[in-house]
Amino acid sequence: MEGIIIKGTGSYTPKNVINNIKLGEIVDTSDEWILTRTGIKERKISIDENTSDLAIKACKIAIKNAKISSLDIDLIVLATCTPDMLIPSTACIVQKALGCDNAVSFDISAACTGFIYALDIAKSLIKSNNYKNALVIGAETLSKIVNWEDRTTCVLFGDGAGAVVLSKSEEEGIIESFCKTDAKKYECLVAPSNDLNNPFIKNHIKNEKYLKMDGQEVFKFATTTIVNSIKEVLEKANMTIDEIDYIVPHQANIRIIEHSAKKLKIDKEKFYTNLENYGNTSAASIPIALHELNEKKNLKKGDKIILVGFGGGLTFGATIIKWCV
Ligand code: UT7
Repeated sequence: MEGIIIKGTGSYTPKNVINNIKLGEIVDTSDEWILTRTGIKERKISIDENTSDLAIKACKIAIKNAKISSLDIDLIVLATCTPDMLIPSTACIVQKALGCDNAVSFDISAACTGFIYALDIAKSLIKSNNYKNALVIGAETLSKIVNWEDRTTCVLFGDGAGAVVLSKSEEEGIIESFCKTDAKKYECLVAPSNDLNNPFIKNHIKNEKYLKMDGQEVFKFATTTIVNSIKEVLEKANMTIDEIDYIVPHQANIRIIEHSAKKLKIDKEKFYTNLENYGNTSAASIPIALHELNEKKNLKKGDKIILVGFGGGLTFGATIIKWCV
């Protein structure tokens, strides 16, 4: 049988650690508020590395762990909402730095669900276009789009990157997956790009500069979406939650994860969480957590893991993987 497996994982986060107490020196907040409302203790904030720099370091680890060379990579799909530049895509910068000269490379944008979308796209392209080894990356420097004067958002986010090598194999390591978009409420989480401005516009309306979020609206969406997405992907795979060893959710808020565990009537330990150390790293959160899960719990061949994401768009999706290495 021909299938697709995750052959290697990697992650990288900036060395600059900003804890809640330090944030209290910048905005009117406290360690107690951030910890009880979100579960976050600290986040890594870049001072000299852009999104591509983080991605390149994560990819080097993933390629090494997959025991392949950069020239074996023929596809790079990078999920980000904080690219280095508008042109070229961050994936192109990563391709050049890694010397992946045989690859086709592009970015995708699906906010915090970006990695789930990227994995699904890479899987489909490997199947339809006969690619052999894909780098699938989630990489972000959210610190450059958050408003550091807005305590309702700046305490939540962090910078980082995670990557996997997704390869053609005789085994099937992607059991089931789906991606969906419900755009009706996209206004509740937005981050602007350049203004529309040209010599033909009389009254130039300036965009706001930073990320803006209706936290409570997104919270409601997230709590129902995680639960429904896990149920949906299990149903598609004809599996039950008891057959799953770990769930790696998007790392936004510990309360969202605890609520989901309660609704699904499962031990919250089944959810792998690391948001206390990184905050919400958007598209990078799932691959960073997956790499850490692999390192810390020593994933065994045959382990089944659900990856589940939700975020701006509003986007959501889930994947069931079988560990095959
Ligand atoms: O990855 C994208 C997905 N994003 C998410 O999943 C985020 C989802 N939303 C959330 O996680 C939560 O809604 C937040 C953590 C953003 C906020 O928690 P909350 O329990 O919904 O708090 P709230 O917005 O209801 O605010 C409660 C109070 C307000 O004060 P008043 O109006 O009650 O006096 C806020 O002004 O807390 C205040 N507040 C803060 N206080 C100290 C808001 N942010 C802070 C802060 N420090 N950083």
